[in-house]
Amino acid sequence: MKLTSTFLFAASASALIAERSHALAPYLRPDSEHLVPEGYIVRFQPNHTLEDHFANIGFDVRQFASVFMEMPVSNAYLFELTESNNYIIHDFIRHDPGVLRIEHDEYLHDEQIFHREAAPPPPTYAEKVKRWINSLRSQGPWNQVMITLGKTNDFGGETNVGSSFFAQYSFVDSGAGVDVYVFDSGIKVEHESFKAFGRQIATHFKGKKTSDTSPYCGSGVVMDDLLGHGTHVAGIICNRDGGAVHKANLINVKVQKCGGSIGKVETAVNDVVTAHNNNKSKPPSEWKGSVINMSIGFTILNFQGLQDALNAANNAGIHIAAAAGNQRQDWLEIPARFASTFSVGAVDIDYNRWTGGYAGIRGSNYHKKLNI
Ligand SMILES: *[C@@H]1O[C@H](CO)[C@@H](O)[C@H](O)[C@H]1NC(C)=O
Ligand SMILES: *[C@@H]1O[C@H](CO)[C@@H](O)[C@H](O)[C@H]1NC(C)=O
Ligand SMILES: *[C@@H]1O[C@H](CO)[C@@H](O)[C@H](O)[C@H]1NC(C)=O
Repeated sequence: MKLTSTFLFAASASALIAERSHALAPYLRPDSEHLVPEGYIVRFQPNHTLEDHFANIGFDVRQFASVFMEMPVSNAYLFELTESNNYIIHDFIRHDPGVLRIEHDEYLHDEQIFHREAAPPPPTYAEKVKRWINSLRSQGPWNQVMITLGKTNDFGGETNVGSSFFAQYSFVDSGAGVDVYVFDSGIKVEHESFKAFGRQIATHFKGKKTSDTSPYCGSGVVMDDLLGHGTHVAGIICNRDGGAVHKANLINVKVQKCGGSIGKVETAVNDVVTAHNNNKSKPPSEWKGSVINMSIGFTILNFQGLQDALNAANNAGIHIAAAAGNQRQDWLEIPARFASTFSVGAVDIDYNRWTGGYAGIRGSNYHKKLNI
């Protein structure tokens, strides 16, 4: 049955008294080839709630939606409809004076990331001891040293660095109690590198299992990492043999290369802020705070909502690192260009800007606002 205003006014007392706006709330449709068919974000005025909204339009949008996600931090919701229900937007939702605007959602067209077809052979013991090993991490590759040393170092062309550099520093508790939300292609949480020190280092967000669908991807896409990028990034942050902050808690927020949309990344940020605030209000033992790591960048047109949500995350006390991008240009990608993020570029072993050199990547972006 198709809903009509007449039906609703007759059927619902609240609809009878609800105020209907004569001026329709704006409907924004980015000039993009990548629109999600019938995917929308509905944003409310600051004083309006989902309950007010449903009361105003006279029904619960969830009955018609194929996907429905609340975005409490953004005071918005995201939903998808079948095309024949499209009139709900224009005949009902836009008539609620509490609606600020409706945006058509847009697929992410994120930067190319590379899939290594074959996993390299597992390291031998001799190779392993040349890398980070156990909780004390006596040696390591130069790039790992750079992240953790806290000062510049002349590597003299040595790509593996010995224990003398680390003896002066204690990293034993680095990252303890910190949740790192990795926004990427997923994390292979079952990998042996993420099981150590009597704990599971990496888990999926929202208690999901590896074979569960990611809430932030297209339908049927699982939490598992089928590309390797997110697992790689997660391993640099923390793994059995060390990593940058070897006691951190890694949380897989799969958003990338999975048919996800900008609205769903914004929803993921909303959910992370909610989780962070829950942890903050009733801190689990030794909980210290949350970090979002986005080694990803997008070229999108309609980014205001994401920018606002990341601002809210930052105001809630979450530190956000975002990749400058690999186009070797004097600009930063989204979200690295937002003031709420630490924008991170890349250098070579001599601390000069990295200018590319493999897999067709052009090198690190740069800009006067680059933070790190
Ligand atoms: C809510 O805010 C809008 C815009 O600021 C205002 O026009 C409206 O009167 C407010 N409604 C209520 C119920 O406070
Ligand atoms: C904080 O909340 C998230 C989401 O519920 C959870 O995965 C994480 O384990 C919590 N942090 C700690 C330290 O318990
Ligand atoms: C995310 O964390 C990894 C590991 O520490 C790091 O290599 C990467 O640069 C981080 N991403 C950003 C954007 O800082």
